Parts: sequence; C-alpha cells; structure tokens
Amino acid sequence: MDAYTLPEAAYRRLEAMVDRIEADPGRSLRPEEFDVDLDTSRVLSSLPPGLTEEDFVGIVKLAMLTECATDTYVHEISSRAREFRASWLERFNENVWKPDEYLHAEPFKRILLALGFSEAELDREIEETQAREFEHVGGDSPIHVTTFGMVQEYLTDHWHGLISRLLRPSMPAAAAMTARIKQRETLHMLWYRDMTAMQVEANPDFVREVADELNRFRLPGNSLIPDLQSQAERWMPLMGGDLSRIVREMVRLLHTCAGSPERLGRMAMELASWKDVKLGLLRPRHLDWAMNLRGGWGYGLVGEAILERAGCSYLFKAQPKEETREGIAERSRALVRTWLSKQLPVSVTA
Ligand SMILES: [Fe+2]
Ligand SMILES: [Fe+2]
Repeated sequence: MDAYTLPEAAYRRLEAMVDRIEADPGRSLRPEEFDVDLDTSRVLSSLPPGLTEEDFVGIVKLAMLTECATDTYVHEISSRAREFRASWLERFNENVWKPDEYLHAEPFKRILLALGFSEAELDREIEETQAREFEHVGGDSPIHVTTFGMVQEYLTDHWHGLISRLLRPSMPAAAAMTARIKQRETLHMLWYRDMTAMQVEANPDFVREVADELNRFRLPGNSLIPDLQSQAERWMPLMGGDLSRIVREMVRLLHTCAGSPERLGRMAMELASWKDVKLGLLRPRHLDWAMNLRGGWGYGLVGEAILERAGCSYLFKAQPKEETREGIAERSRALVRTWLSKQLPVSVTA
C-alpha cells in the first residue's frame, strides 16, 4: 500500500461531502428519457468534411463501449477504496456513480440501432468489452483515483459534447440525449475535482501524487477498445475539437485542485513533459534552488506562467498598482512570468 494519510478532520469532511452528494445527486437520468423517435435520414449526408460514415459509426461506438464497462470501473475503484479504508470513496462509487453510469451507454446504442445495426450484434460487442480486462496504469491511493476520475470524466464530458454538436443539425433528438449524458459527466468531473482539492488542501504534498497520476494517465478505452480509441485523436479535430480549449480547461481544473499558483507550479515541476522543457540553456531541474527562494517564490512564478499561457491569468492577476515599490516589483515579476510562459510548450499544460 502506498503511504496515504490525511488528518481525521479531512476524512470527516470527505464523508460529509459524500453525504451531501447522496442526498442530492442532481437530476438523475431516467430510462424513459431515451424513448424518442430517431430520424437518421440526414445524419450521414451532413457529416463534416473528412469524417466518413465509418468514422461516425466508430465515434458513436467508442462512446457506447466506453460507457458499457461500468461494472469493470466500479470493481477497480471500490477495491482500491476498501484497501485504503476510504469509505467515502467507496460509498460515492457504489451509491451515486454506479447507478448513474448504468444508463450512459443507452443513447449511443439507440443511435446505432436507428442507423440499422442489429441489437444482437451490438449486445455481443458490449459483452465482449465488458469481459475484457481493464488495465489501470495509474496509482492506487484515493488521491490517485480521484485525479484519474476527474481527468477521465473531463475527457468523456468533452467527447460527448463533440458528439452532441455533430448530431445537432441532423438528429436533434439524439443530440439532446447525448447532452443529458454530458451534463452528468460534468457533475462527476466536478465531484472528483472537489474530492481531489479537499485531499490536497489537507495534505499539500499530494500535488506529487496528482502529477504522478497525470504522468501515467491513459483512457480506459486504450485497453478495452484499442481499435477505436486509437482513432480518437484523428477524429477529434474533424469533430471540431480544440486542443487549446482542453489545455485551458485542464489548467483551470488543476489550479482548483492545487489551491494556489505556487502549488500548481510544484505540480507542474513533477510532470514528465515539463522535465523536457528548455529555458535557454537551462532545464527546470537546474532551477531547484531558485524554486524555493522566499517560501516557494519560484514555484509561484511557474504556476502563474502556466495560468498565463493557458489564458487564465485573471485567476491571479490583481489590478495594476501605483508606482510604489510593490508595483515595480510586481511589474518585474510580470516580465519574468510572461517570458517564462512563452517558453512553455502547449503539452506542458495539457
Ligand atoms: Fe459515463
Ligand atoms: Fe461519468
């Protein structure tokens, strides 16, 4: 078991958070919501340039098959929660997340049925996916699991949003069903984000575990449906996906988890992609001494540079100050920060 400790008060806060989620899990899905007539007559002729009929089917299948493996994910998460005696995580997983996720594959299955796929064929593919082994390459502790959950829910939310947008002009009813699933994923992502932030607040050293999970992150589709998952990167821009938006939103999420630009900077310095960044002749690991100047001044600067690069500088920037000593110091800091932010490749923050 990895070292994982939190003060008692933090366990109580996490349990209380799950109590509140159990009491009000938001507007849950109902199976009747998906009893709608789906007209597929226009969808294939209205696909964006570069996206074939086969691609479209693959995109919807990737969503259906990723969503059908709920029991696999529940088993992986609950067994880890029990191992680390995180009953808050097990309760959330079993009582809130599982019943909600059970309905997520349904709209995508209905779209494929409306396109003419046989139910027996789809059920066979679902059973095959459910029987596959999910290869979890991340860490096992609750902070690893909630970080994984946050990123996975964020990316699923984004994927469903792209599908909904793709369907809106030609199959509005299917777009609306997909948007309902997307709403639930947004909520899951926010719950996992807040659980991660609460753990980091209680034990700031956990920024290392968050970075460790980000370094190892792989979507479950890579082991469950590799043939389809491997095409997602090609499909994404064709569906209107925008990498800079993903970067911006991920940086905001990680900043919330970290709780301050300084901790975001510490997290970033642990990221594998950051370790390859060159700053002139220097690499970040050469700058360790500078990072800890005056209580983490350097880490704060790195965190702010990342926020600035992702277009989120409003999260830390104050109003311009008068010509005081602090105003001049802030302006010099801003110059260094802006220079640093320009050295960062997009992948550092993705
Ligand atoms: Fe889902
Ligand atoms: Fe979800």
